[in-house]
Amino acid sequence: MSGFEIREALPSDRDAILSFDHVFQADPGRASFIDRALRTATCLVADRNGRAVAYGVLEYTFFGNGFVSMVYVAEAHRRRGMGRALLVALADRCTTEKLFTSTNRSNESMQSLLGTLGYVPSGSIENLDPGDPELVYFLDLRGCASIGVAEPTLPT
Ligand SMILES: CC(C)(COP(=O)(O)OP(=O)(O)OC[C@H]1O[C@@H](n2cnc3c(N)ncnc32)[C@H](O)[C@@H]1OP(=O)(O)O)[C@@H](O)C(=O)NCCC(=O)NCCS
Repeated sequence: MSGFEIREALPSDRDAILSFDHVFQADPGRASFIDRALRTATCLVADRNGRAVAYGVLEYTFFGNGFVSMVYVAEAHRRRGMGRALLVALADRCTTEKLFTSTNRSNESMQSLLGTLGYVPSGSIENLDPGDPELVYFLDLRGCASIGVAEPTLPT
């Protein structure tokens, strides 16, 4: 198989996720986040040849609304539609009418990706990362059967 599939994360995906999530190397606290996501959140992975190479997490921690707290694609697998596919699948699973996410102002890749999916800016939060505000994004799911874009055609 040369493409990928989006599926629910399994506890056995933990090691693969830790191996490609470079933040884990700098911040071991990331493992706690991943453990919690695998236990209690909606956690999806992009599976390529039986191995998770990207993951996304949906929680309901943002004023009671859906919040995509993570989308991370292994560096070697970027720009192949996995980030987009994860966000589409998470939005499809979101049970609230309002879906939020956030990213640093310096993260132009994520901002560009969110723009292609219809997310709109929804304010910013200072004092998290010094000099790099957290930009909040909003997606209106009211009346939408899905995120409003077709499931991407997966690369073959
Ligand atoms: C941001 C991130 C999730 C994007 O994932 P990805 O799988 O590479 O993105 P996709 O292939 O689905 O990209 C879809 C579209 O988003 C935009 N995009 C994605 N990466 C981009 C980049 N580096 N520069 C400009 N546009 C970009 C493009 O419009 C792209 O479409 P195209 O490839 O046809 O031009 C990925 O770079 C990543 O994991 N970064 C590290 C973790 C992170 O920053 N996560 C976000 C905060 S939680």
